[in-house]
Amino acid sequence: MESIQILDAKKHVGETVQIGAWVANKRSSGKIAFLQLRDGTAYFQGIVVKSEVGEEVFQLAKNLNQETAVLVTGEIREDSRSKFGYEIGISGLEVVGESHDYPITPKEHGTDFLMDHRHLWLRSSKQHAIMQIRNEIIRATYEFFNKNGFIKIDPPILTGSAPEGTTDLFETNYFDQKAYLSQSGQLYMEAAAMAFGKVFSFGPTFRAEKSKTRRHLIEFWMIEPEMAFMHQEESLEVQEQYVAFLVQNVLDNCDYALDVLGRDREVLKKYTKLPFPRISYDDAVALLQKNGFDDIQWGDDFGSPHETFIANSFDQPVFILNYPKAIKPFYMKPHPTREDVVICADMIAPEGYGEIIGGSERAIDHEYLLEQIRAHGLDENEYSWYLDLRKYGSVPHTGFGLGLERTVTWLSGIEHVRESIPFPRLLNRIYP
Ligand code: 4AD
Ligand code: MG
Repeated sequence: MESIQILDAKKHVGETVQIGAWVANKRSSGKIAFLQLRDGTAYFQGIVVKSEVGEEVFQLAKNLNQETAVLVTGEIREDSRSKFGYEIGISGLEVVGESHDYPITPKEHGTDFLMDHRHLWLRSSKQHAIMQIRNEIIRATYEFFNKNGFIKIDPPILTGSAPEGTTDLFETNYFDQKAYLSQSGQLYMEAAAMAFGKVFSFGPTFRAEKSKTRRHLIEFWMIEPEMAFMHQEESLEVQEQYVAFLVQNVLDNCDYALDVLGRDREVLKKYTKLPFPRISYDDAVALLQKNGFDDIQWGDDFGSPHETFIANSFDQPVFILNYPKAIKPFYMKPHPTREDVVICADMIAPEGYGEIIGGSERAIDHEYLLEQIRAHGLDENEYSWYLDLRKYGSVPHTGFGLGLERTVTWLSGIEHVRESIPFPRLLNRIYP
């Protein structure tokens, strides 16, 4: 007898198979029991009929607790009443692992309680759907960059540099030296671009930010492409093609998850249309001021109400171009005709999900960069390897970073970034 996964049930209609699963839920009458079975690939119903299995198996089924692990044997049948479309008529049942007083019940629980039980909460259907969307975004990311001639390069996690500023670094001991957990692999990716042309990284990054918002994690995953011989305008095209590709693949390959999450496909389809709109920082400030945001002055960074307002003025993700130099990192290329702005762009997601991409063209002049490193209070000795890139065949290059969790949160249509990663690290939370 073949062992199968629930997701493959449709290929086995009429066959008797074995499935290892957990009992997510159960209801029964005197003669028939319905088991809601979950194996990580999907959920479906197992039906136990007393007159078919006999008293002993029926009593066993009737008394199964939530989250008991079982091996079930039975025939796969079509089930037109369920959304999934298939069920199993159970003939044999074996308990593999008992479960008593499972803490997460079908009733509503508070967020703190669920976060404390994240190791179990992951089993629920909504979390399962979100992780499928996450997995699809990861898969499609590799497909996109491999298809477009990028190679994956892994920057280090333990570093001596602080690309995104010194205020939110996690410091650790590195034998008799100080080291930081990586905020961004970018500087190393610039070295990689000079070696390999078009590269991307995909790894964990850390920010000791004291932010407690629905968009901030302490540990998050970032995709950082870097491209040699490329200017910002071409990078924006790569960015919008990449994001549209992610949306299209979620639409194509995550039907079940989108149903569970109740995500409107028509809304997502709008995000596959290219190009995405572009607005300059200057115009964005003017737009906000015209619409009653008296708190924003030219030179300020945008907060989430500002980003949301700008995003709502468009129907798609929007690029905000060329921010003030004073509020951006040291490595960004200065504007050729304006002292006060740099050549950069943030991509703001629609529906209030905020910034999902930050990117820029990189400064390539050795003297300018050295000056910037000093002006930002960074230790130039830590950056001498980085400055070497500007000494030996320096070329125009550009890159960006997409936050995986913000993208998962947006495409899933969920409220908070904490549900977009298996085990979120948040301000004041590192358990479980
Ligand atoms: O805008 P950021 O800080 O850009 C960089 O780190 C550049 N070095 C990227 C590059 O050009 N290679 O971060 C990039 C993205 C943000 O747009 C956001 O999506 C995500 O990373 N991000 C966070 N996600 C969750 N929690 C946080 N605390 C985040 N900080 C940034
Ligand atoms: Mg940013």
